[in-house]
Formats: sequence, structure tokens, C-alpha cells
Amino acid sequence: MRGKFITLEGIDGAGKSTHLAWFADLFRQRGIAVHVTREPGGTGLGEKLRQLLLDPENPMHAETEVMLMFAARREHLDQVIEPALAKGEWVVCDRFTDATFAYQGGGRGVDWARLTQLEEWTQRGLQPDLTLLFNLAPEIGRQRARGARSADRFEQEQDDFYRRVREAYLRRAREDPSRIRVIDASQSIAHIQQQLTDIAGALCR
Ligand code: TMP
Repeated sequence: MRGKFITLEGIDGAGKSTHLAWFADLFRQRGIAVHVTREPGGTGLGEKLRQLLLDPENPMHAETEVMLMFAARREHLDQVIEPALAKGEWVVCDRFTDATFAYQGGGRGVDWARLTQLEEWTQRGLQPDLTLLFNLAPEIGRQRARGARSADRFEQEQDDFYRRVREAYLRRAREDPSRIRVIDASQSIAHIQQQLTDIAGALCR
């Protein structure tokens, strides 16, 4: 049986990476084979594109950014995601196309309809079975995201950019409410874990 495809989304600092490993383990505990991956990245070429995309020394046109994101995604789908799903594995992916609508669409102002065309061309109708959107105010995300390492090209953006990113994510959630579950990321970790347990239980039923 074909596996399920689950993606996690949210602004930087919203906590999705903290919850990702824990969420994937919920499925492993049920005996499901889970492949955890990320975007941009997940393949040899994709990880190289990621380095270019995140490097603060590499300014680029917003449309170049879009095309590199979709180029990395095409490889990821072809080499990792599709084969894993076909084998019956579940794929849990840290970001996917909703991030392109949020960051390049909302944040950079790239035309939504153009992104929709690229989404259709790249994914040929494939969509995640479930997307968890960790929703958080940018001011709080910024405080949380700042660790010891220096900020990448996106983390250097200001709150205004992140407000647009957040709004675009919420627009995606309104457009596809049966796929995208919005999680209030300002809640305690225990609260969120309880919600994730319920969501995972429903998905496995
Ligand atoms: P990460 O920090 O969650 O690993 O993601 C890397 C950065 O890439 C993050 O700031 C969001 C950005 N990004 C986009 O701008 N567009 C995309 O399509 C994806 C997948 C990520």
C-alpha cells in the first residue's frame, strides 16, 4: 500500500523542527517505516542547492529563488519521495511547496498564479496527505530562532517579511483546509505533543 506524505511548515522559530522527530517517532512506534527528509534538500543536488539558497553571500532574484526551490523539489520527488511512498514508507518532510507560497509568494511578492503553475508542473498532482502548519507571531519566532549560529539568508529578513510569510501560510491553509492543520505554536510543548498524538492517531486509523 502506498505510504503517506506528511509535511511540516511554519516561519523560522515556530518549532516545527523540534516537533518533527518526535512526530515521526509516533508512527515508528506503530510499526510504520518512516523516512524523514527536508526541503530545500533531501538529495545530493538538493543539499548543494540549499547551500546556495541559504548563503547570505549569494543575493539572487526572487524568481531565481523560486526556480531553484522547484529544481531541488523535482529531484527530491523523483529520487526520494515518490520511491519511498511507492514502497509503502511514510515520508515526513520538513517544509515543502507551502513554504514556496509563503516565502517566495508572501515574503518576496512572486505572483501566486505563477507559483501554482510551477507547483502543477513539478508535482503532477501530488500533494501531501497532511500538512502541519505551526503558526506563530514573527516577533516570538525571531527570539526562538536565534541560536548560536549566524543567521542564514532568510533569517536575516525583518519582521515585516515574516508577517507576510505567516499571512501567506494562513492563506494556503484557508485554500486547503482539509489538508493543512493549523497548530498554535505559542502553546507549551506538552500541549502541542498532545495535539500531535491525536492527529497521528486519526491518520493511522
Ligand atoms: P529550514 O530553516 O526550515 O531548514 O528552511 C530553510 C529556509 O528555506 C527557511 O528560511 C525557509 C526557506 N524556504 C523557502 O524560502 N522556500 C521554500 O520553498 C522552502 C522549502 C524553504
